[in-house]
Amino acid sequence: MYQSKIAGLGFYVPENVVTNDDLSKMMDTNDEWIQERTGIKERRHIKKGDGNSTAVMGAKAAKIAIERSGISKDDIELIVFATLSPDYYFPGGGVQIQEMLDIDTCPALDVRNQCSGFIYGLSVADQYIKTGMYKNVLLIGSENHSGGLDFSTRGRGVSVIFGDGAGAAVLTRSDHNGQGVLSTHLHSEGKHALELSLKGPSTMHWVPQIIEENPQGDDIIYYPYMNGQFVFKNAVVRFSEVIQEGLQANGLEVKDIDMLIPHQANLRISQFVQQKFKLSDEQVHNNIQRYGNTTAASIPIALTEAWEEGKIKEGDTVVLAAFGSGFTWASAVIKW
Ligand code: UT7
Repeated sequence: MYQSKIAGLGFYVPENVVTNDDLSKMMDTNDEWIQERTGIKERRHIKKGDGNSTAVMGAKAAKIAIERSGISKDDIELIVFATLSPDYYFPGGGVQIQEMLDIDTCPALDVRNQCSGFIYGLSVADQYIKTGMYKNVLLIGSENHSGGLDFSTRGRGVSVIFGDGAGAAVLTRSDHNGQGVLSTHLHSEGKHALELSLKGPSTMHWVPQIIEENPQGDDIIYYPYMNGQFVFKNAVVRFSEVIQEGLQANGLEVKDIDMLIPHQANLRISQFVQQKFKLSDEQVHNNIQRYGNTTAASIPIALTEAWEEGKIKEGDTVVLAAFGSGFTWASAVIKW
């Protein structure tokens, strides 16, 4: 059995900064509430005409990751793309990114696991590399939330949280014994599927039906819905469980964690996990303050940033953990 490792990382966020004060001009909210409840100060939103889309941002992040990996784009054998906000209903965004990067005819696989999408994708990439089927895999998470949020007061419980952006990693077969992805741990619980969801447009709610019925108020189905407190309560439990599971599987203890990259759902969730495991500020990287929750992009953005800032060194034990819609949750343990 081979082992996979991360050979290159990259991220991209749109230039357009949207502060909490900017949002308070569109809806009944304020900087104090948003910072106190979520930790977010600002986020990035695609601006009309800036040329960005989910796939475009994904391709930009991927380009950086490929350059840094030292691996030619022509040697990529699989593209795995995680998003909940694809440019098109079909085809998936993986093939769009393939075209944008001018990568020939390798397979492009889309992953639909929302906030856990990047770790689910990492697990897929890891399995293919482990078995020897592929040597180099491009993994991307990208989201364009801003185009589909309700920026009226009705949607404030959701729309202040999410931001746009993309992150990417190139995974390759590891030459050094023990260096790379040690394990991945995936879970889902479909009974809570609708607690954080976007119901339409979809095959259950086609556009003509939405237009005809024009649901309003509580029935609205074309903006994301989140049962915030319920999601929060599940998140803190599942984050803790799945981190513990990853450590146990590798015979590691909390003190062995050099860097924890939690999915950036809410700063209070990250802080709860940090306190529970008694981790220092140096052992956890958060950037939700600047980017909001970018779902499948949040872990690769935070991981890239932590690496760029020199917070991750060779030999470090890095733990990734996520929880989100589905519900899905996941962790990965990596020896850098
Ligand atoms: O990434 C995927 C996973 N997602 C998560 O893990 C998110 C989990 N949930 C959360 O992060 C939090 O539940 C939220 C940040 C979404 C909401 O925070 P909360 O502390 O749970 O607030 P709440 O929904 O209980 O609302 C408290 C009050 C309500 O007013 P009343 O009923 O007490 O008068 C809301 O209407 O805050 C009000 N509120 C707002 N006020 C100002 C809700 N959103 C806003 C807002 N600005 N943006």
